[in-house]
Amino acid sequence: MESVKLELHLTIKRLETALLCSVLTFLLFTILLCLSFGPSPMKSSNEQGLFTDSDPKLEMTAFKEDYDRAIYGEKLFVNNCASCHALSKEIIGPALLGVDKKYEEVWLKKWIKNSQQLITEGDPIAVALSNEYNGKIMPAFTTLSNDEIDAILFYLKK
Ligand code: HEC
Repeated sequence: MESVKLELHLTIKRLETALLCSVLTFLLFTILLCLSFGPSPMKSSNEQGLFTDSDPKLEMTAFKEDYDRAIYGEKLFVNNCASCHALSKEIIGPALLGVDKKYEEVWLKKWIKNSQQLITEGDPIAVALSNEYNGKIMPAFTTLSNDEIDAILFYLKK
């Protein structure tokens, strides 16, 4: 009886050891797997230029440039246009957010530089616009450079 008990005890011990061993082997295997498929293959793909189009440094630079341009455009807008225009509600002139989608760029630039000239020349869009606003006059901005107008239009993009 006593020996059967001892045998049982030993068997349980052996089973426990086997279980512990397999858990340890599994852990070791997982760690090795992680190490071999970890960051290093990504890095080598990067070196081959596979992920370069999402280079965070380049993205940050582009973002910073856009941000600076929008800030510059906003300043020009506030100083020259905001007395008559808001972004999303009509004041004296129409709301201007997204106006770049409403007209051709060339036309928009001509309009901003000298809307009255376009109207006198009989440009149909300009004449219709002027009639819609009962002949209210938007001043000419001949002093604004192309770059400055570009910046304002960039700021007005949706
Ligand atoms: C003194 C008021 C006034 C100022 C300042 C002014 N605008 Fe205007 N703007 C108008 C009026 C009024 C209209 C409507 C058309 C008309 O009657 O000339 C208009 C129309 C426009 C339109 C056509 C919008 C549409 O939806 O059809 C654009 C674009 C525009 N203005 C851009 C500008 C920009 C950019 C500036 C600043 C550089 C500016 N305006 C400054 C009064 C003004």
